Order: sequence, then structure tokens, then C-alpha cells
Amino acid sequence: MAKYKIAWLPGDGIGKDVMDAAKIVLDAFKFDAEYIHGDIGWEFWCHEGDPLPKRTIDILKNTDCALFGAITSKPKEEATKELIPELQGKGLVYASPIVRLRQEFNLRTNLRPCKAYPGNPLNYREGIDLTVFRENTEDLYAGVDFHPVPKQVMDVLNANHPKMKRFAEQPLEDVALSLRIITRQASRNIIRDAFEYAKKHGYKTVTVVEKPNVIRETSGLMIREARKVAQGYPGIELWETNIDAMCMWLIKNPLDYGVLVTSNMFGDIISDLCAQLVGGLGFASSGNIGDDYAVFEPTHGSAPKYEGQYKVNPMAMLLSVKLMFDWLEETRSALRLENAIATVIKEGKVRTYDMNGSSTSLEVADEVARNL
Ligand code: NAI
Ligand code: MG
Repeated sequence: MAKYKIAWLPGDGIGKDVMDAAKIVLDAFKFDAEYIHGDIGWEFWCHEGDPLPKRTIDILKNTDCALFGAITSKPKEEATKELIPELQGKGLVYASPIVRLRQEFNLRTNLRPCKAYPGNPLNYREGIDLTVFRENTEDLYAGVDFHPVPKQVMDVLNANHPKMKRFAEQPLEDVALSLRIITRQASRNIIRDAFEYAKKHGYKTVTVVEKPNVIRETSGLMIREARKVAQGYPGIELWETNIDAMCMWLIKNPLDYGVLVTSNMFGDIISDLCAQLVGGLGFASSGNIGDDYAVFEPTHGSAPKYEGQYKVNPMAMLLSVKLMFDWLEETRSALRLENAIATVIKEGKVRTYDMNGSSTSLEVADEVARNL
């Protein structure tokens, strides 16, 4: 029996291309794992009405962790239109399967490192080394949305908050409502994870990124928890920065920052910004980490226009494999893989289109494999 069982979830579009690249590298390691394919993505929504079928959930329950490529997501009405005729009119509502995975498996921490590997011509500046800790299960992505707003909900809100009046005066179908839900426990967890990471890797600061001056209660709760957690880490300074200013500071002085911690939506946004500072989405890896399960995936989506062309940069996916090695405590393999990736970037002989090269995703993976 193999040492590890890994769920293999290519998903849609370039998710498949980059997962093929990952397989080349894992095979070169002779990594002692069994890979179990799981269906996930748009095809299963259109044909079965569920982009994350129960059989896939069962695979996840019986594996150590998962590698995931990307899925295609579309807004509600568009998604409904693409269902096969037999599934039309049954009231099926599309929900992103990756968001569901994060919530159902309580993969509460989204770890997103963005490092400027030396010699990458796309680096915004050399020496950038940022890691975003994004809370992964709550906030505006909790999925508690209303449109139209049910009358009872509107009445309760109106009765309990003076600022609701001007919305309550409008017809219910003219108001949409998404709840920003933040809990003390989740805030504490994500902040503690960020501090633990900073401690382990020698960072001197942790920056909590919110907007408590305006979003008083939810961002406020995050900040108050951050201050409490920070007391347990005397050698590490807590910096508090508003999300809007953070976008500006990251462009102006990216080298000032190391570990960033924030809620789900702000984390989604700044992690794309951080990715662009180190070469773009082709370099941005991530881990969705819970207490006893984890899903590793590139930050990018399915980029449908490049599907099946093996054109995109597989580095984000390969760096996600590195994060998987870290999580499995295969530390030597993690180091070997990162060094090989760094070498390939620096030598610059094999590069995909985004780096002004003409190599395929698979050729880049082969080159990384050769450098292990
Ligand atoms: P995207 O990340 O798929 O692509 C945006 C652009 O970034 C691409 O057109 C390409 O120019 C560039 N890009 C992305 N990955 C790259 C790579 N590996 N190498 C080189 N260039 C790369 O985002 P977009 O276009 O907003 O969304 C496309 C689909 O992906 C949507 O259906 C969206 O919902 C879904 N998506 C899925 C995610 C996931 O599976 N976790 C995350 C983000 C988007
Ligand atoms: Mg995103």
C-alpha cells in the first residue's frame, strides 16, 4: 500500500493542464502515493446539477489530502441556463464547489505565499516575500445571501438597527443582501495561524488587514482578536492596516511586509495583488488547511481561453505541490522541489508565454523534474 492517498481533482479548463504538469513532477519524485480521481466542476453541474457530487466528497473523506486544479464558476442565472434540459426548472442553484469544500471540510486557513524568485523577469521588485493568511469559511463568502430580501428578515433588521430604515422603505425585490459574518473563533484561529507561521519562519511583523473604522463590528472583532493573540507573541509586532491603504502600501513598499492576515473577501483580493507582485497568477500557490484535511491548489482559476493548450504557467500548481509536501511533513521533498523551481526560473531556459517564453506547461514541469 502506498504511504499516502491523495484525491486528484483537476476540475475545469487549465486545471487539467496544470495537474498533468504536477503529475510529471510527482512521478519524478517517485512519491509514494496513490492518486484517486474525483469529479468536480462545471461538467458535473451541467449534467448532474451538482459540481461537487457526493462520490467526490466520499473520496475526500478517504484520502489524506487533495490536489485541485481549478473550476469554472458562473453567476446564478448563467449557471441555470447551462443545465441540461432534464434538470431545468427543478430549482437547482449553483454554488462554487471550492467554496463548499472549504466550508464542509472546515478548511479554515487559506495559506497563500507570494515570493519573488530571483531572476523572474516578471518580479515587480526583487526580494518580495509575502504570505497571506486568508480566513476561508466565513465573511461575505459564507453564502448567506437574499434577493429579494424576505419580509421577516427586513422587518427584524429594521426593528433592530436605525440605519436599516432607508432600505426597508424600498420594495423587497429591489434590495439584495449578503451577510458579512465573522466569528470570534475563526478570527482567533486565522490570526494565531499567521503568528505561528511568522514565529516558525522568523518574520518580525504580522499585518492584520481590515477596515474597522468603517466596518466597525466585523472588522472590529478581527482587530480586537488580533490584539489579544499578539500578546502571546512578544517578539512579533502586530501592524494594523486598512484594506484600501494596504493595496497602496503593497505597491509602494512591498518589501516592508511579510505575513498578512485578513478575512475571506479581503484575502481573496489582496492575494491576487500579491501574486501580481511576484509574476502573476502563474506563480501563486495556496493551501486550504483544516485540522485534519487540506486541499492544495493554485490561486488562479480555469482560464477557459487557454484550456487544453498546455500554454499556462504550471509554477503555481507546482508550488502548491510544495505546500502539500510541507503539510505532509515531507520537508526534504518540499525543499528539493522549491529549489528546482527556483533554478528553472533563474536559468530561464524553459518558460511559458507569460514569461515571454514559448515552452509548454509540460516542458516546464519536465525541466523542474530534471532539476530535482
Ligand atoms: P483566471 O485565474 O482563470 O484567469 C485570469 C487570467 O490570468 C487568464 O486569462 C490568464 O491571462 C492569467 N492566468 C491565470 N492562470 C495563469 C497561469 N497559470 N499562467 C499564466 N497565466 C495565467 O481568472 P478568471 O478569468 O477571472 O476566471 C476564469 C474562471 O475561473 C471563472 O469561471 C472563475 O469563476 C474561475 N475561478 C476559479 C477559481 C478556483 O478554481 N479556485 C479561482 C478563480 C477563478
Ligand atoms: Mg481569487
